Amino acid sequence: MNNRALSNKQILITGATNGIGLAAAEALAALGANLIIVGRSQTRTRIASARIKAAAGSGATVATFIADLSSQASVRKLATEVLARYPKLDVLVNNAGAMYGTRQLTKDGIELTWAVNHLAPFLLSMLLLHRLKESAPARIITTASQAHQGAHIPFDDLNAERSYRGSSRYGETKLANILFTTELARRLDGTGVTANCFHPGLVATGFNRNNGLLMNLAMTVLRPVSRRPEKGTAPDVANVSGAYFFDLEQRPPSPEAQDVEAARRLWEISERQCAISEVRSQE
Ligand SMILES: NC(=O)c1ccc[n+]([C@@H]2O[C@H](COP(=O)([O-])OP(=O)(O)OC[C@H]3O[C@@H](n4cnc5c(N)ncnc54)[C@H](OP(=O)(O)O)[C@@H]3O)[C@@H](O)[C@H]2O)c1
Repeated sequence: MNNRALSNKQILITGATNGIGLAAAEALAALGANLIIVGRSQTRTRIASARIKAAAGSGATVATFIADLSSQASVRKLATEVLARYPKLDVLVNNAGAMYGTRQLTKDGIELTWAVNHLAPFLLSMLLLHRLKESAPARIITTASQAHQGAHIPFDDLNAERSYRGSSRYGETKLANILFTTELARRLDGTGVTANCFHPGLVATGFNRNNGLLMNLAMTVLRPVSRRPEKGTAPDVANVSGAYFFDLEQRPPSPEAQDVEAARRLWEISERQCAISEVRSQE
């Protein structure tokens, strides 16, 4: 791909101050994409922006936004600012994520891992959805993980009040990413907006980077964006929605992640947790 392969593509990526998100942003910018990067720290976001600009191909732009994705008010403010500034949005990459050793509650009273890893992508996608539909063909890509294997959604203890273990909770939220993608893709059918998620492989983020793995990641992020039927390349990939990718291949996730009823139930609960009726009334 040349350094203008993604020129004129407007791509928003969360968690672009470090690790996978930063590497993906650098790779996307190198292909000429116009990036909107979201970070929660002014300093880290400024440093990341400079790195991404240094890697950028001709014509690529990098804009920065500050948002703490653990706060629903902050996610709403971010979406309002992005909608006001960008009449077109081609790709939303929900990448920010974290694992916490101890149970903590957000300002909204939600367990922190659930808030950052699942509800933030859910709410941000909902708030930006009409702009993505207006920009179709468009994509929503969410960074999931093989850590979803063996996890179940604890529908009777969603806020992890009865039990909390950081790694188990993380797995539940990564399962939620896949179920969210499944239901989102179903709801987006026929709109020209696809929703997919992927496992980036095990990446030593922040340091000790493995270029092979990171290029795999960038390619996974890019593939559904950059290959278009009209260019005669991989139309099957361009039209795939609701899929889980691993090592550039579409793979079946765990049986729990293929439970469409759980996906619908989780969607309804997530709407309530984000007071999504207010979102609808704002559209
Ligand atoms: N690393 C792996 O092996 C691996 C494997 C499978 C899946 N993943 C997934 O890949 C994604 C990226 O993880 P990573 O490994 O690249 O981790 P990372 O290096 O720790 O980067 C995480 C990113 O998310 C941001 N973030 C965390 N909490 C946030 C919040 N409350 N508000 C806004 N931004 C927030 C971080 O911002 P700060 O710079 O401000 O901290 C950072 O930019 C995650 O969804 C993770 O679940 C990672």
